[in-house]
Amino acid sequence: MNILVTGGAGYVGSAAARWLIASGHRVTVLDDLSLGHRAALPSDGVLHVGRIDDRQAVLRALEAGACETVLHFAASSCVGESVQQPRRYWSNNVAGSLALLETLIDAGVEQLVFSSTCAIYGEASDAPLTESTPAAPGSPYAFTKYAIERMIADLSHAHGLRYALLRYFNAAGASPDGAHGEDHDPETHLIPIVLQTLLGRRDRLTLFGEDYPTPDGTCVRDYVHVDDLARAHELALDWTAARREPGGEVFNLGTGRGHSVREVIRAAESVTGRRVPCEVGARRAGDSARLVAQARRARDVLGWSVEYADLERTVATAWAWHEAHPDGYASPV
Ligand SMILES: NC(=O)c1ccc[n+]([C@@H]2O[C@H](COP(=O)([O-])OP(=O)(O)OC[C@H]3O[C@@H](n4cnc5c(N)ncnc54)[C@H](O)[C@@H]3O)[C@@H](O)[C@H]2O)c1
Repeated sequence: MNILVTGGAGYVGSAAARWLIASGHRVTVLDDLSLGHRAALPSDGVLHVGRIDDRQAVLRALEAGACETVLHFAASSCVGESVQQPRRYWSNNVAGSLALLETLIDAGVEQLVFSSTCAIYGEASDAPLTESTPAAPGSPYAFTKYAIERMIADLSHAHGLRYALLRYFNAAGASPDGAHGEDHDPETHLIPIVLQTLLGRRDRLTLFGEDYPTPDGTCVRDYVHVDDLARAHELALDWTAARREPGGEVFNLGTGRGHSVREVIRAAESVTGRRVPCEVGARRAGDSARLVAQARRARDVLGWSVEYADLERTVATAWAWHEAHPDGYASPV
């Protein structure tokens, strides 16, 4: 397939782009590099530097790659920042996605896979979460993702779009060869922060709240390896391509196993043989107590399964990346 990947220089988007290139697909990336990295892509990967709301940039990229389908990753995606700067999130995520969709529809693109999030489930604490668990977004970030899901569903029937909405739980880990991994600035995800602390790049780890209604009081999340997510995108592309009718489905992507912050710390200590210096801080605005997937639909409909079911194995891939690249993609090679 010829695939346009928006946000393909970012953490998850670049993993999907590399995966699809390795599987023989023709991939064209559109990324404004506001957060992404050129080096996250293979040296022969095609990158167009541009924004999703820039109609000409999108059309150029679509045309250059003869793209018939789109994976849409580009977004602002920090929960805390979205509480501080909601306008930026509604603008970049919702207005940006609307502009992108208008361009795609005008260009005759009929297939779309969208990066959504488990944050849509908000405070829902019933585990495991299914796709029919009522949405209860707890932050501007989550609301923008939910709004885009709705936008895609609404436009699909009027414009013949076939789509998959992939609600990832917590993306984690790095490529098994240690060459590509997570490099966000600022970093807000737990595993890289724990590993940066172990590398001495941070003084200590702050646990944001120890009074959640979970077994050890810290937040519980479902950590899904980034290569498992990448493979799910390939399956979702096949599924949307095979659909005869406009419309689509929501799919949860998670391992089905929840791990608390303290369990992640223990896994990192076990992988590295080092101790994580910790302090307990206040809760963070917008954080939910527990988000764990039930991903049966992705298994039954897409044929997806998780290769990295064990947290330590996922953390070990992340450690190999961080140890070799303490400054992320800016590390000397
Ligand atoms: N990382 C996770 O755990 C996680 C979990 C659930 C959902 N998601 C979603 O997955 C997607 C990717 O997440 P990520 O962690 O890889 O994020 P990321 O920040 O690493 O990647 C996002 C990419 O989009 C680009 N971008 C942002 N705005 C753009 C715009 N207007 N035009 C063009 N490019 C733009 C950035 O430069 C960056 O390369 C996001 O949509 C996010 O909401 C991520």
